[in-house]
Amino acid sequence: MPAGMRVGVLTGGGDCPGLNAVLRAVTRKGISVHQHEILGFRSGWLGPVEGLTMPLTLDAVEDILNRGGTILGSSRTNPYKVDDGIARLRATLGEHRVDALIAIGGEDTLGVAEQLTHDGVPVVGVPKTIDNDLDATDYTFGFDTAVHIATEAIDRLRTTAESHHRALVVEVMGRHAGWIALHSGLAGGANVILVPEQPFSVERVCDWVQQRFERQYAPIIVVAEGAVPEGGKELLLTGEKDAFGHVRLGGVGTWLADEIAGRTGKESRAVVLGHVQRGGTPTAYDRVLATRFGLHAIDAITEGDFGKMVALRGTDIVRVPLSDATASLKTVPPERLAEAEVLFG
Ligand code: F6P
Repeated sequence: MPAGMRVGVLTGGGDCPGLNAVLRAVTRKGISVHQHEILGFRSGWLGPVEGLTMPLTLDAVEDILNRGGTILGSSRTNPYKVDDGIARLRATLGEHRVDALIAIGGEDTLGVAEQLTHDGVPVVGVPKTIDNDLDATDYTFGFDTAVHIATEAIDRLRTTAESHHRALVVEVMGRHAGWIALHSGLAGGANVILVPEQPFSVERVCDWVQQRFERQYAPIIVVAEGAVPEGGKELLLTGEKDAFGHVRLGGVGTWLADEIAGRTGKESRAVVLGHVQRGGTPTAYDRVLATRFGLHAIDAITEGDFGKMVALRGTDIVRVPLSDATASLKTVPPERLAEAEVLFG
């Protein structure tokens, strides 16, 4: 194993709790076990394109294990969509004598990592996303924290909903995958869970809501931001697309609360949890997973095992080709939703 490499690290895409735990593990093991130098790139792929750096020393990563966000900053920059992006990225890596990169991100960041691998840049990927929608790993860090935050919100909303005999619609994140909605809905005892994978019938939702009111309980409806009514379309905050072609979703919760009020005559309110789900300190589970990913990623770099992503399989950390990680999204299968549906109403 070659010691003494110069290793670049970046965090890309939407931030999530646990990113700093990866940076700490990469840096601690990289320096003390492998005698590498670790160079952070700021603001996702913008960092290597524009030469924005931050040395990651033992001091720099002290006291960040439990801190949310990322000390490197993040962005949704796609270097393949920036003029001369890849040439500039290569020039930065050359200037700083970077031997290999660790890219910590979701499908977009890792998609770039995979393309770069084909273009001869040595990269190892680390999966992160609160959405838990990366196919090649059982879990991504950030998801557990987001589910805890959403579950706590549901618990709190339940008591106020019951005091006022209202229906409360809780909109959670999840563009294409409803994992946060499914897990927080199950954990919080929601009466309806709606996910992007399966268009929903408003009539059916209202039947469940009525059933709940008839038993003198206030219903809680958890809806993923990407969920769509049958025959309808995703609700957008803005049609503008980011560098990876994503629009900003939002509004389905408010729309559904209005529909419920109109159709059932019951007072309804909507709460959008939004970026609260991505903020603050990571759970113990996410800290452990993020730390293990970091420790294994720096080993993969040291062994020259590029074009790979570290992944969780059962309780083991394994390496999978980056192409597997980005080939398809891990969505909620119909049987998992059906399992939960027994508890609706
Ligand atoms: O990909 C993670 C995620 O939190 C999605 O769940 C959400 O749709 C999106 O990011 C929000 O993006 P932004 O931070 O750009 O508003």
